[in-house]
Amino acid sequence: MRILTLLLILVSSANFTFGADLINEICQQTVDPSLCSNSLRSDPRSANANLTTLGRISIKNAQKSAKAAKKLIHKAINSSSYTQCVALYDDAISNTKKCKKALKSRDYGQLNTFVSAAMTDASLCDGSFGRGVQGPPQLKFESIKLQGLCNIILVISNSLSGVIKLV
Ligand SMILES: *[C@@H]1O[C@H](CO)[C@@H](O)[C@H](O)[C@H]1NC(C)=O
Ligand SMILES: *[C@@H]1O[C@H](CO)[C@@H](O)[C@H](O)[C@H]1NC(C)=O
Repeated sequence: MRILTLLLILVSSANFTFGADLINEICQQTVDPSLCSNSLRSDPRSANANLTTLGRISIKNAQKSAKAAKKLIHKAINSSSYTQCVALYDDAISNTKKCKKALKSRDYGQLNTFVSAAMTDASLCDGSFGRGVQGPPQLKFESIKLQGLCNIILVISNSLSGVIKLV
């Protein structure tokens, strides 16, 4: 038991000494660390990238997910909930575009506003299903993914603005 504790102390101090991986630091703060790590590392630009570049990558990933969700709905459009969801995901895509601009102009307050709006769009679409209307089976999954990706943007935005300290 004591050896294990010592080992844990050594491991954590080693991490500290050799400098933590920025992606790990970010992802530990998110709701889905493995989605976070996989999605950021899937982009070759993420190697040794700074926070702003990782922010750009996470916005691009969220935009891709919003577009995938819209495509899922488009393929199966057969009720008013679907029509409403297409409009909501159009809004989500437009919000991710606004995120890009806000990150570029370092307006992290606006960035948080637009990320939150994209998350609201996805959850409003989820909420439009349920009363006898079934959504496309993969839509719920894509919506959860989009919200997880948006959560990464929030963590990056809040560390860029100094609200949270990563290292
Ligand atoms: C982050 O990295 C990008 C690309 O390498 C660079 O253009 C930008 O100036 C860097 N930003 C900061 C704050 O260091
Ligand atoms: C719409 O399509 C989905 C599958 O894509 C199906 O589960 C649902 O029952 C359909 N709804 C209506 C109103 O036809």
